[in-house]
Amino acid sequence: MTMNELKSILVTGGAGYIGSILTHKLVELGYNVRIIDSLIYGKDGISDLISKNSVELIEKDIRDEKTLNDAVKEIDCVIHLAAIVGDPLCKKIPIAAKQINEDATKKLVTISKEHGVKRFIFASTCSNYGSASNTVDENSPIQSLSLYSATKVNSENFILNAKNSSFEPCILRFATAHGLSPRMRFDLLLQEFLRDAILDKKIRIYGPNFWRPLAHVDDISNACIAVIKSPSDIISGEIYNVGHTRENYTKKMLAEIIQEFVPSTKIEIIESKKDLRTYKVSFDKIKNNLKFISKKLFEIVFLAFSPKSKRVV
Ligand SMILES: NC(=O)c1ccc[n+]([C@@H]2O[C@H](COP(=O)([O-])OP(=O)(O)OC[C@H]3O[C@@H](n4cnc5c(N)ncnc54)[C@H](O)[C@@H]3O)[C@@H](O)[C@H]2O)c1
Repeated sequence: MTMNELKSILVTGGAGYIGSILTHKLVELGYNVRIIDSLIYGKDGISDLISKNSVELIEKDIRDEKTLNDAVKEIDCVIHLAAIVGDPLCKKIPIAAKQINEDATKKLVTISKEHGVKRFIFASTCSNYGSASNTVDENSPIQSLSLYSATKVNSENFILNAKNSSFEPCILRFATAHGLSPRMRFDLLLQEFLRDAILDKKIRIYGPNFWRPLAHVDDISNACIAVIKSPSDIISGEIYNVGHTRENYTKKMLAEIIQEFVPSTKIEIIESKKDLRTYKVSFDKIKNNLKFISKKLFEIVFLAFSPKSKRVV
């Protein structure tokens, strides 16, 4: 299958933090874009696209089966982003989290297959690696430490099992995103630290030596597009971590980098067993197979302006 055959794209959660960046890129590249989103966080991220009629918006909940049937009609490829995102929010609304992240995902896969959707790209997470002592890759064991991750892992398994010669699923496990989006999120690690440094002059770190990989929201969106454009044999039934191997940081490393910019920042270390996730991730598979390289590395876009920048650029 070639890229030319995949012209009509359904983006679920297309008004979200990643979705609003991705849908703009898809429109610029000339794809026909349909979005289904219940607009929990509003539609500011895509209002320009709506007013120019550049996308079709279905403002509905993905838990509704009839909505899904309508949404996948004449669609070549689904990029499934809609979810209750992150451990804290899933914990707050666990029933809705399971219904949206897992049950609706399974329904969407089945309905997509029935309607002849050719490719299905699923937004999963590197959180699935849980608490790992060595660098992990796509073959490493997964360890769901939260409901959020459990819903993602159960969905991944269902999606991969749905693979056949005419339905090509691909799982993307995103690193923790950073960067600007019209639907901004300040609950993501780097942005939360930056906000706290500027507003509170204090960063509180739970688990200072815990590792997290970062990826810019532009690069995450470009990775989704790389999967649309890639030949079947390298994406169908595959899992790819999305990020860059150089972009693994401990929370303490991130806080200290921010302190260079906002010198008045105090760092407070809090011993806690609240979130035991630590994962240092290899992103070699996506680099080698898809020739995909993240460009907006944190250390380049951010550290380049650092007072100590000579050490990195
Ligand atoms: N941002 C990250 O760091 C990150 C990391 C790993 C994986 N992911 C995954 O990427 C995807 C997008 O994340 P994001 O950061 O853009 O999150 P987001 O919360 O900004 O976007 C999610 C979108 O889904 C929509 N949505 C939620 N429930 C819905 C429902 N029932 N019906 C229709 N629409 C619904 C929301 O309105 C929102 O626009 C998610 O699947 C998330 O798990 C994100």
